[in-house]
Amino acid sequence: MSGTSSTDTLNRRRFLSGLAGAGAALSSLPAKAESAKPDPAITEVQDWNRYLGDGVQKTPYGMPSKFEKNVVRRDVSWLTASPESSVNFTPLHELDGIITPSGLCFERHHSGVAEINPADHRLMINGLVDKPLVFTMDDLKRMPRVNKIHFLECAANSGMEWRGAQLNGCQFTHGMVHNVMYTGVTLKTVLDEAGIKPNAKWLMLEGADAAGMNRSLPIDKALDDCMIAFGMNGEALRPEQGYPLRAVIPGWEGNLWVKWLRRIEVGDQPWQTREETSKYTDLLADGRSRKHTFVMDAKSIVTNPSPQAPLKYKGRNVLSGFAWSGRGTVKRVDVSMDGGRNWQTARIDGPVFDKSLVRFYVDFDWNGHEMMIQSRAMDSTGYVQPSKDELRKVRGVNSIYHNNGIQTWLVRSSGETENVEIG
Ligand code: MTE
Ligand code: CO
Repeated sequence: MSGTSSTDTLNRRRFLSGLAGAGAALSSLPAKAESAKPDPAITEVQDWNRYLGDGVQKTPYGMPSKFEKNVVRRDVSWLTASPESSVNFTPLHELDGIITPSGLCFERHHSGVAEINPADHRLMINGLVDKPLVFTMDDLKRMPRVNKIHFLECAANSGMEWRGAQLNGCQFTHGMVHNVMYTGVTLKTVLDEAGIKPNAKWLMLEGADAAGMNRSLPIDKALDDCMIAFGMNGEALRPEQGYPLRAVIPGWEGNLWVKWLRRIEVGDQPWQTREETSKYTDLLADGRSRKHTFVMDAKSIVTNPSPQAPLKYKGRNVLSGFAWSGRGTVKRVDVSMDGGRNWQTARIDGPVFDKSLVRFYVDFDWNGHEMMIQSRAMDSTGYVQPSKDELRKVRGVNSIYHNNGIQTWLVRSSGETENVEIG
């Protein structure tokens, strides 16, 4: 123990005097345990069992244990020119279940994080409406509220992997995805209040950040399942995620989920903004471009083992990962350990929601042989996640966005794991 304060010493003394019996209890361990190699973690009374811990209110807003300091978002320094127009990645290999903790949700900003006082924030609705409206945050919080769990995936997730295996870690190859419970108001509720004109076909969503980022959204999708959210995972949105207000566009590419949302214009055609013309379109082999590629197709990734989470033990092991689909629910996930020759159906555990991550597991015994691990998601429309080669056949090799090809991890007999591709 180092850096002990006087109150700590006091607590320790008080605690020691009350603990005279503890040593006696340990010396009566059964003979069987005594004959095994002694493990100090079990044979010795530990400090945390001996001394009082911190009192309440040491951290009014709780933080993870100091032993979890590896569980952080990471960026790739050479990927972007400046941190304001950049991205960092969710540490998928450190997570379990289906909810991404708010502080670990990857960030993608075009002009940095806008710092907005919610008292000064407004949402305006204008264009082809009966009644243009301006809402304060308090106005929105007095409207009927909904809660939904959805994944958000940046269209550029796995974008570096189009021409072959690149980045060594699922955090970097697949970490532009998060899965959050949103609280807010449906877009339909606010649009109904303004009254949309019969010729309205598209919306333009605009952010209040320095990029003034904007995207066109078809009205049918807006009225179907979109939300404007002020809450995530039970509390206010984080600044990085668009505090105080963001669009939630379930199953569609992350770029449409406008953060720091300040204006919705109703129109009869798309706006052809930068983000839907020069960006977020993919060049095909024949020179034409795909545009308005909104939906994120079914995808999956084995997060453990993976390059940042090698196998440590022979014998009993848990393989784990995520799957998701922008078209509905994930119906099944298959896993191969031999590069796609044989497949077994993984066990999905935990809730299965529409357009949300699901968690899958394969419990297996490892005898130390090399493995080529892959996973393949199937969704409620019957769509099956393609191989990278199948994707390239249709899309060529000039794409950046919408790479949902099957990932391969090579697990060496040492347990070390690498990003590879099999041709
Ligand atoms: N909204 C605004 N106003 N500005 C932005 O830079 N980035 C978009 C989208 N919404 C962005 C934005 C992109 S490309 C993505 S992938 C998601 O926000 C990322 O959301 P996140 O930072 O919560 O992960
Ligand atoms: Co994006």
